[in-house]
Amino acid sequence: MTDIARAAELLRAGELVAFPTETVYGLGADAANPQAVAKIFAAKGRPQDHPLIVHLADAKQLDRWARDIPDAARKLAAAFWPGPLTLILKRQPDVIDAITGGQGSVGLRVPNHPLALELLRTFGGADGGGLAAPSANRFGRISPTTAEHVREELGDAVAMVLDGGACQVGIESTILDLSGDEPAILRPGMISVDAIAAVLGQAPAAAGRAPGPNTPRVPGSLDSHYAPQTPLELVSSDGLVFAVRNAIIKQERTAFLASMAQPIHHEMISWRLAPADPEPFARALYASLRELDALGCARIIVQAPPATPGWLPVLDRLRRAAG
Ligand code: TXA
Ligand code: MG
Repeated sequence: MTDIARAAELLRAGELVAFPTETVYGLGADAANPQAVAKIFAAKGRPQDHPLIVHLADAKQLDRWARDIPDAARKLAAAFWPGPLTLILKRQPDVIDAITGGQGSVGLRVPNHPLALELLRTFGGADGGGLAAPSANRFGRISPTTAEHVREELGDAVAMVLDGGACQVGIESTILDLSGDEPAILRPGMISVDAIAAVLGQAPAAAGRAPGPNTPRVPGSLDSHYAPQTPLELVSSDGLVFAVRNAIIKQERTAFLASMAQPIHHEMISWRLAPADPEPFARALYASLRELDALGCARIIVQAPPATPGWLPVLDRLRRAAG
């Protein structure tokens, strides 16, 4: 039996299978099976009322999960799926509460990874079955971008980990809410606001609006999330040399993630060179944070990237990691 066939069999039996996507590794369960979905919350230590994204093999399965689907959703699906965009749509009535967090909407996406798609096709079949899959980390921790990270995070809590190598995008999908009166970004990601606006013919409302009574809950919007255990600070490029000197004077072992070359070499300083562009920076970000976290330094200092639109999703994750 192939790994995919075995994974699909485990999922049908209500077990958890972690699988690679282009963004981060997901912790998958049959989205129609409440007992299986309950195992996700137990394995992650995640609060029960946080909704999960349902992963589909194909946009043709949208109608099985969502209703009153606006044209905008079909257009965006055609433009970006498979890819790192999650659409929040009005749910079909039979979507279970454990998926929606009891809300009237459901999050859906078709991931762009050959193993994920093969698994979804094998599992989903003709009846449009989907896999609920949050990032395969313990609640509040750094998302995994390799199969090894998943094993570190979840150990025996997961029946199987499909290894598809390192994730190419490296940070979670853009989440766009199309269930309300106007399109709104709930979580920035590498599918940019501009790319979405170009398809919609209208700019979506930006992330970080003041929540209204109907604003969906998004745990990624909790202040501290995606966080290493070591305290993390963002420091502008102008402040980096000062921060290095300060660490040496205070005799505090400090890890740096920066695109500038190491200015001073000293035993108190660990320096990791970061890519100077957002895409490679995002790809390497979580693995770098994990490695720096494992050094057991007093703090991690990250050179703050420029506050330009291309860096927005990366900056969002760094701010959350800084707490
Ligand atoms: O890239 C990704 O999206 C990854 C991969 C595995 O697909 N998944 C991921 O899942 O990041 P998770 O559970 O860590 O984050 C999903 C986010 C949460 O912030 C959740 O609140 C939000 O999606 N979400 C899911 N369904 C929602 C809904 N109906 N309304 C509002 N937010 C929803
Ligand atoms: Mg997550």
